Amino acid sequence: MTTPLRILPDRLVENLESATYQYAVTMQNIPHYYTVARTWADHKDGMSEELMWTVWEMRKHDVMRPFGNMEQHYLDVNGFSYWTMVPRDEETMLINRQYSTHGAYDSPFDAIAHRYDDSEKPWYVVQAEREALYAPAAPSGRVLDIGCGTGLLVDYCYRAIDRQRYVGIDPSAGMLAKFALKHPDYQADATLLRTTFEDYETPLRFDTIVAMAGSGSHVTGVDIVEKARHLLAPGGRAFLTFYRDPTAAFERMGLNRAPEVAATPDGAVMDGEYVVVELTRGED
Ligand SMILES: C[S@@+](CC[C@H](N)C(=O)[O-])C[C@H]1O[C@@H](n2cnc3c(N)ncnc32)[C@H](O)[C@@H]1O
Repeated sequence: MTTPLRILPDRLVENLESATYQYAVTMQNIPHYYTVARTWADHKDGMSEELMWTVWEMRKHDVMRPFGNMEQHYLDVNGFSYWTMVPRDEETMLINRQYSTHGAYDSPFDAIAHRYDDSEKPWYVVQAEREALYAPAAPSGRVLDIGCGTGLLVDYCYRAIDRQRYVGIDPSAGMLAKFALKHPDYQADATLLRTTFEDYETPLRFDTIVAMAGSGSHVTGVDIVEKARHLLAPGGRAFLTFYRDPTAAFERMGLNRAPEVAATPDGAVMDGEYVVVELTRGED
């Protein structure tokens, strides 16, 4: 069965991300933040039409999850969960958000993040293999690194990547923490988001989209090829790697038709025989 591609309206994503949030000081057991109408640009007499539009739009795309012994609707975007408290057919002038805690981003990579970059092979062998693995990704322009992990793409393509236009996404807090420790300069100027590719939403379009060292196989809830195509800028290129036999991964994503697999670059053969799916988007 095909998993429908969720694409939220840019206006909804921008409103949620650019709103001003304040800490809910009275609910310390559910640490969260909220935004209210008087902080929205169009507010008048305590009301904001834009906030209300955002709430109606959230309700079209949210999902139901347990909330204590009740249920609650949430919209998950870029590592945050958003919700409102009033019945769904009522107006409200308040949106809550918290760092997503529902377990979707709990990751086995957290436990191995501290030693993920290590290898028992001599350093020069590792260096040669990784250079061969990352060079074909050829990142340029605005880069999206799906499952960026500890930032090995940045390690091996440091000079080619403009960190002010680099976006690294990964659900593993441990992998991202290691990335940030190695590259404090990226932490400051780049965007590192703790989110799955499934929940990543952005108005940005990318010149290069990569999923390195098999990250493509970890995406389960969305057709990675369709979503990558949607996020490519005109003239852009996606370089997506999958573990050796990607059939199961493609099935999990609900792809009706397996994408064409490109020749495996030498570096990928040495590191684990990843297969590569390459996409390009022509100039419009
Ligand atoms: C084998 S590691 C590769 C890391 C990095 N790309 C590299 O080249 O070393 C796979 C990464 O994919 C991440 N991942 C798992 N599920 C994901 C998802 N749904 N969306 C994006 N990344 C995911 C993992 O947390 C992990 O960091």
